[in-house]
Amino acid sequence: MSDVKTILITGANAGLGKECARQLALLPATTKVILACRNPQRAKAAQAWLRESTGRSIFDILILDLTDLDSVRRAAAEAPVVDALVLNAGGLGGSGGGEQTADGVTWQFAVNVLGHAGLAEAMLEAGKVRSVVVYAGSEAARGVPEFRMPQPKLETSSVSDFASIGDGTLFGESFDEMAAYAHAKYAGAMWMASLARHYPAVRLVTMSPGGTAGTSAAEEMTPMKRWMMTWVAMPMMLMFGHAHTVEAGAKRYIGAITDERYKSGVFYGNERKTAGPVAEQTPFFPELANAAFQDNARAAILGFLA
Ligand SMILES: NC(=O)c1ccc[n+]([C@@H]2O[C@H](COP(=O)([O-])OP(=O)(O)OC[C@H]3O[C@@H](n4cnc5c(N)ncnc54)[C@H](OP(=O)(O)O)[C@@H]3O)[C@@H](O)[C@H]2O)c1
Repeated sequence: MSDVKTILITGANAGLGKECARQLALLPATTKVILACRNPQRAKAAQAWLRESTGRSIFDILILDLTDLDSVRRAAAEAPVVDALVLNAGGLGGSGGGEQTADGVTWQFAVNVLGHAGLAEAMLEAGKVRSVVVYAGSEAARGVPEFRMPQPKLETSSVSDFASIGDGTLFGESFDEMAAYAHAKYAGAMWMASLARHYPAVRLVTMSPGGTAGTSAAEEMTPMKRWMMTWVAMPMMLMFGHAHTVEAGAKRYIGAITDERYKSGVFYGNERKTAGPVAEQTPFFPELANAAFQDNARAAILGFLA
């Protein structure tokens, strides 16, 4: 087990990020948790709740909007040196997920991949991450046959193929938020694997929290979809072992942060279904281990960051 003391978590005001902050504060080794959030009011509310529920005053706030690379660069410059960086924020983005940001990518790609890449690349380059980077993966990135969710598909996995995930051109006129999310998380896992080879002294782990109930993820959905997800889909998923609690989901991040048996450059998620034991995801999707494809994903991302 590693001795991680200071941790920066993106999207730490809600769902898995907030619960990860809470669980980390309960570890005696932890001396500082930085809540990197886009909204100052929500960040302050989470800080107050975390102080009260853990009895510890170790939570700082860093304002960061992942859909704005200027904000990301400012946050990377302001961030102190940390032992662990948890790239947690993300989600489907609802009907606005396909809209373009000023940085030339879809909102969904920005929040799930590009903003995190900007933050992590800058902090690693500046020597501001001592021990481990954890990226929130998703089983969607390797396909979920139980839910008829296909594997991401690229023609040749070239740099421009990966770039077409980022700017949304891969999806044409009909932006399907779930398919785009699967491709974005796939590109994110591939970028992490490539980055791991550039920073051998730091452990870079992609960890899916698994199907997790009780987060704010449904809030951005249309009212009908939100109702279906909250009252029908999630209860059914919990009942049939396809989902678990937010405590169980965040515990996976804690494992990835503190347990050095989770190897650098590897994408971990469910062994089967979308909850249950954790396993390497490559057997589900061999492309995940292709170093040339991983480097193409990183090159596409660096192109957007340039
Ligand atoms: N829940 C699941 O079943 C599941 C399964 C697999 C993977 N994941 C992944 O786990 C991660 C956390 O999911 P969750 O379910 O905990 O979601 P959540 O409850 O919706 O929390 C998402 C967090 O991301 C933040 N965020 C959104 N846009 C942002 C932006 N532009 N800049 C900075 N922060 C932003 C949100 O802040 P605001 O409160 O300000 O919106 C919130 O703190 C995501 O990456 C998700 O893809 C979740």
